[in-house]
This record gives sequence, structure tokens and C-alpha cells, in this order.
Amino acid sequence: MDNPNTAAAPERRARILSGIQPSGTPTLGNYIGAMRNWKLLSDDFDCLYMIADLHSITVRQEPAKLREQSKNLLALLLAIGLDPQKNILFFQSHVHQHAELAWLLNCYTYMGEMSRMTQFKDKSAKHADNINCGLFTYPVLMAGDILLYQANLVPVGKDQTQHLEICRDIATRFNGIYGNVFTVPEGYYPKLGANIMSLQDPLHKMSKSDADDCFISMLDEPDAVRRKIRRAVTDSDGEIRYNPETKPGVSNLLTILCALTGEAMEDAVARLSGKGYGELKAEVTEAAVSTLAPIQQDFKRYLADKAFLEETWRQGAERASRIAERTLSKAMKKIGFIPR
Ligand code: TRP
Repeated sequence: MDNPNTAAAPERRARILSGIQPSGTPTLGNYIGAMRNWKLLSDDFDCLYMIADLHSITVRQEPAKLREQSKNLLALLLAIGLDPQKNILFFQSHVHQHAELAWLLNCYTYMGEMSRMTQFKDKSAKHADNINCGLFTYPVLMAGDILLYQANLVPVGKDQTQHLEICRDIATRFNGIYGNVFTVPEGYYPKLGANIMSLQDPLHKMSKSDADDCFISMLDEPDAVRRKIRRAVTDSDGEIRYNPETKPGVSNLLTILCALTGEAMEDAVARLSGKGYGELKAEVTEAAVSTLAPIQQDFKRYLADKAFLEETWRQGAERASRIAERTLSKAMKKIGFIPR
């Protein structure tokens, strides 16, 4: 008999879509919690990874900086090992179907639903001088990102689960009216995912929009990594134990260490027990620097190769928009627009 694997060929593999905003350089937390899993996923799924530049203008961006950070992010995705042949890597703004589907979906989403989004509440408090409509409908744009590609799985952090939920609601609502147009996606929470917290305020997530000493950027030089970890908040009891509630700072450092080295938490704690925080910090620094060094080297190489970068984003947009167009035109036809 034929090899059963080849016999079953025509069915497509489950599709994954995820996105990351080009606002600032990703942090070590983004890498550990999300980006390094993207590479693993590409072995088992058809993956699209999108640089969510349309999302990033919901807060004001400086044009030159936005351009630089967008290019950097693409180079960084390549540097963490994402193969642009195996994965579709693209800029959201290069695929016009995103903005179009977002408009359609806006008309199937309620003000009340959007007002309840915690990220909207947080961000409008933080940017009180610029509470724009884009900030409000941000989750609708994100829903469109996912639905355009009929994604089955969406790897997202905890802070995005509410957005994924609303995406499912919108898709289900639309399908309820028009029949099966969209795949209703599931969240994907990778085994290797760990929540990395701020170095200065370890009860909150490490975020690139906080002060510089709160996070390690993926492009930080070894000196900066060392300095930031040395200054990371710990506590005064001096014992190396894992307990995120009573010892959030030390536990965060332990989490970073284990996430980067692959060592089991019990083993690391047993090995380090009786030692000082200085030793823990030295190990975390070493792990972070040795993880980031090869990525940074590749990053520089990709960033210098303009032709390759351009070819990558051009091909990515072409492949993405072929898939996106199929979904968009189907949705438009169902709504009752006259086909072009
Ligand atoms: N909103 C996501 C974030 O800030 C980025 C994003 C945009 C995204 N579109 C997406 C993530 C689609 C997953 C799927 O992290």
C-alpha cells in the first residue's frame, strides 16, 4: 500500500496567523512568550506572520521611526530563524484587504462590545489626548487580520485573549447571517510560553512602552543587558525561591533563566538555593546575552541586505493577498455588493 502520509496529502495543514506591532523593538519577553515559538510552529502548520503596522498608528508614530522599526522587525523575524519560503512574512499595510475587511466587520460589531475591551480602556487612559476611533475599533481590524486567512489557530499572549474572543464572536455572527464564510479561530497557547514581567515592576508584564530599564530589548548590547538585570527589582529576604506572589522579582528572574536555558524550575531553584541574588542575576545575564548574541548578528546581516529584505516583503504581500482576496470577495458577495 501507499505510504498513508502521502495518500492523505490534499488536506491543508492547520493555518496559523499571528501579528506583532512595529512600535519599538520587541523585548526579551516578546521573544520568550511569542516569537521563538513561531519558528517551532512552522514545522507543523502553515504560518503567516504579520507586522501589524496598521495597528501601530492607533497611537501617534513618528514616520521615520515607524519605517525604521518596521524594517527592523522584519529583519528580526528572519534573524530568529523564520524561513520566508516556509512562512508568509508580510506587512499588514501591504495587503489592502485588511483595511477593507475591517470596514465591513465594523458594521457587524457593536459599540457596547468595543467599549468593554480592557485594552481600549487602558490605552485611552494612557493616551487621553488621542482617543481616536482607530483605537476604539482596533479589535475589529485584528479580527479581520485573522479571518482573512481562515486561520485555525492564533498564538496570542494573555493580553490578547479578549481580542481573540471578540474575533470569534464577530465571525460567528457573520456566519450566522450569511453561512460559512469565516473559519472561527481558536487561541493557541504554546507549551514554551512564559509570562515575563517588568524588571522594575514585576507585577506587570514586560512592555516595550515602559521606561527603558523595565525591559530588555532584543537588540540591547550585552552591557545594557547586564546593567538592567543588575538593577532589576528583587526583595529583601535574600532567598532564592519561586513564588510569583510573595517574591515576584526573584520569580521573574528565575522564569527568564529557565525559559532561556530549558532547565526545570525545581532544578534551578535547588541548584541556586543558598546562593545570593547576585549569582542569580549573573546567570540570567549570561543566558540572555548568549541567546541574543547570535540573533543580533543575523539581524545585522539581514538588515544590511536591502534587496533580500525587499524581496521578502514583496513576496510575502503577494502570497498573503492572494489568500486574503479569496475571503474578502466571498464576504463582499455574501453581503450583496456587485462583484467587480
Ligand atoms: N494586537 C496584537 C498585539 O498588539 C497584534 C496583532 C494584530 C495580532 N493583529 C493580530 C496578533 C492578529 C494576532 C493576530 O499584540
